[in-house]
Amino acid sequence: MINEKQALTQIIHLSQEIAQYKDVDILLERILTLAREFVNAEAGSIYIKEDGQLNFSYTQNEILQRKLAPGKKLVYSTFSIPIDDRSIAGHAAHTGEMLNITDVYHLPPQVPYSFNREYDERTGFRTQSVLTFPLKISHGNIIGVLQLINARNDDNTVRAFSKEEEPLIMHFANNAAVAIERAQMTRALILRVIKMAEMRDPKETGPHVNRVGSYAAEIYEVWASRRGVPHEEIQKHRDVLRMGAMLHDVGKVAISDTILKKPARFEPEEYEIMKQHTYLGARLFSERYSDFDEAAFIISLNHHERWDGKGYPGHIDPMTGALLPGYETNGKFLGKKAEEIPPFGRIVAIADVYDALSCRRVYKEAWDESRVLETMRSDAGTHFDPEMIDAFFESLDVLRHIADRYPGE
Ligand SMILES: [Fe+2]
Ligand SMILES: [Fe+2]
Repeated sequence: MINEKQALTQIIHLSQEIAQYKDVDILLERILTLAREFVNAEAGSIYIKEDGQLNFSYTQNEILQRKLAPGKKLVYSTFSIPIDDRSIAGHAAHTGEMLNITDVYHLPPQVPYSFNREYDERTGFRTQSVLTFPLKISHGNIIGVLQLINARNDDNTVRAFSKEEEPLIMHFANNAAVAIERAQMTRALILRVIKMAEMRDPKETGPHVNRVGSYAAEIYEVWASRRGVPHEEIQKHRDVLRMGAMLHDVGKVAISDTILKKPARFEPEEYEIMKQHTYLGARLFSERYSDFDEAAFIISLNHHERWDGKGYPGHIDPMTGALLPGYETNGKFLGKKAEEIPPFGRIVAIADVYDALSCRRVYKEAWDESRVLETMRSDAGTHFDPEMIDAFFESLDVLRHIADRYPGE
């Protein structure tokens, strides 16, 4: 056991760490990982309040995770519970009070809430000690609930959460709540920008860009960890990639409706104009104030490049649209090739095409998964980076789950 002062220093440090993350999905994952590590908890969940209900938004379970192949992630389904006294999380959100329960299978008879054993029965997990905190922002408003499950001793036997841990987790939960609220505002702002692009191109919808962002973050994590990129660095890159990938087609706001909404095939001149959405989008982020701007710039510019060099816009100056010196070939644009294309560009190309093929579009029905996967595999080395396609196939279970999380056009 560490002493009180060390614990306090550690919790302050953790609170500072989560303040760095800007994307909601990445943030929830980091919050739960760090909170669980702090009390050595086997599992945990975060519920987020939406439309007057609590959505089961993110969960981790070390015991069930261990039964999976290395690198695989636990797939879970989202559901909603009412904010009332019937459930433990509902009660915490309803009353704004923390609950520290030693064993949820032996609740005192007078409490209004009960424990739902359905998850345990389905998975074989035994939930025992549970610490539940409301995530409070200013004016006591509650945006969700943080739940930590089965604290452990050093020898990994399950123990109750201690009284001393309560204020520390509370401090962390309050900081987490503020970070989540900020990340939700950022996400909402990005989705508003996407709505503008969507008015131009009806294919660029909120669900599509959310899926592309999440797919890209997953594929990146697998690819980067195989390459031995340090864990900390992966987390930071995933965060900016998740958000930047959402904006891959934002340059379409600058392309005219007559071209974007044309029901027939583009004439060659029209196609040339359409291609400009890559660098027109990049221009929006040319004043690179943050890592996020940098990521959005790179992704917008490079998401239509191809591994074999047959993509666009190639080696151009995004500010003028002109070819860079040394790359002129009779005025023909030569695409960037292989590793000339930045990794974020190569990843978003995979995520965007995968989603486009998997979904129904005005001009085509959704393809069967087998046909989609065959195409992704056979385009490795031509359209896509082969090493990243391997990472794509390795993440497939998680990608399918993301598609369920963000359903719709
Ligand atoms: Fe695009
Ligand atoms: Fe797209």
